[in-house]
Amino acid sequence: MVHLGPKPAQHRKGTFADVPAQLLEAIKPFEQEFTISGAKLQEIVNHFISELDRGLSKAGGNIPMIPGWVMDYPTGKETGNYVAIDLGGTNLRVVLVKLGGNRDFDTTQSKFALPPHLRTGSKDELWEFIAKCLKEVVDDVFPEGVTEPIPLGFTFSYPASQDRINEGILQRWTKGWDVPGIEGNDVVPMLQEAVKKVGVPINVVALINDTVGTLVASGYTDPETKMGVIFGTGVNGAYYDVLGDIPKLEGRCDDDIPATSLMAINCEYGSFDNEHQVLPRTKYDIQIDAESPRPGQQSFEKMNSGYYLGELLRLILLELYEKELIFKGQNVDKLKKPFVMDTSFPSRIELDPFENLSDVADIFQDELKIQTTEPERKIIRRLAELIGERSARLSVCGIAAICKKRKYETAHIAADGSVFNKYPGFRERAAKALRDIYEWPAGKEDPIVIVAAEDGSGVGAAIIAALTEKRLKDGKSVGVKANA
Ligand code: GLC
Repeated sequence: MVHLGPKPAQHRKGTFADVPAQLLEAIKPFEQEFTISGAKLQEIVNHFISELDRGLSKAGGNIPMIPGWVMDYPTGKETGNYVAIDLGGTNLRVVLVKLGGNRDFDTTQSKFALPPHLRTGSKDELWEFIAKCLKEVVDDVFPEGVTEPIPLGFTFSYPASQDRINEGILQRWTKGWDVPGIEGNDVVPMLQEAVKKVGVPINVVALINDTVGTLVASGYTDPETKMGVIFGTGVNGAYYDVLGDIPKLEGRCDDDIPATSLMAINCEYGSFDNEHQVLPRTKYDIQIDAESPRPGQQSFEKMNSGYYLGELLRLILLELYEKELIFKGQNVDKLKKPFVMDTSFPSRIELDPFENLSDVADIFQDELKIQTTEPERKIIRRLAELIGERSARLSVCGIAAICKKRKYETAHIAADGSVFNKYPGFRERAAKALRDIYEWPAGKEDPIVIVAAEDGSGVGAAIIAALTEKRLKDGKSVGVKANA
């Protein structure tokens, strides 16, 4: 399998000879703290496996392991028009999907930038925004109107409990969202009511996590797919488990569903190690957590997902500034603003092709009004590498844990998300980390490979909506049995 993706970031061969000794000394601890050995990764994976099991147990654990009520593989013969929406970190995507019936599909995509204040604004404003975007797309594509409501698959990429597929009770916001009045409630009726208010003929059939959509969409075109994973604003994975191996569903499913049936599980493993037993947290990770809207949650995600990488770099730079090691005597007010550096910062810093890092100089000058010396830029670049490398190495622990748990010896892991798609060198670093965990012999093709996914939140959501309609038509259940 050919590994797709951007070229690896070249580690700078340039010398650090011109970097002042005091500054070199000051970044030494970062080298240590941010470098995670193969042995440490293995220790993390072992603990991860037991935490996945705990999440599936009746008592439950930190990792939610949410049954996604996708219990069939698509046949490829699914047909019809579907709408999929994906409420992501920065955009709302609306996708009209026409399933052709022959493993083929057509999509029409629209993207709406989410005004940043919606992430922490009022719930009515959020739902109204989504409903209006939907109306715009539907009116545009079906100007004559439709005879029947269009079935919609709602990709809602937050931990939402589901006792059935058309339900999603938000456990807690993640990735910096904080809209009051939604946690603890089912988001499906909220969306259904909002679309009704603006008058769009839509029926919300299924609520889907982005990882489950990715798993299903990629399985549709590549039968070797064993997991759907997202390396983006957040980090998470989904896989199929066997019903009989999910103790917390024991006795809760309809009696005619055999124990050998499969069930897609949205792990929500961003919350791995909230008890802080194995992850090598630095004081910056601890600070990010403490200052986040949900301290104590998503410990794993906060160390490696896209939402936090720029912030990690910012905190370190600010500390070096306060110790008078960099940016001496300058006004760093802009750098003092939390989250002013998104992931594009470390990403662009790593991408700078020039020996004197002149792109880095421009970034700091233009966006933060800070002038940098070449030695400072070399240090900034090294820090970005350390943060990027740690992120890639940690984020594959979830993959190794699932594959070991399910005893997959070979697998395609379908991956999506901004970090996977855009962060330089992420794919190579992730592959290397898997190699370190498994100790695969060099020179052979890796048996477990991370591959670029199909569009999970569009096509995947549409296929799941189609599978759900079929199950309902066949009188099969799409959730726990009555009174369970
Ligand atoms: C966060 C969300 C999860 C999602 C992931 C990737 O971890 O809680 O639902 O799958 O981000 O978007």
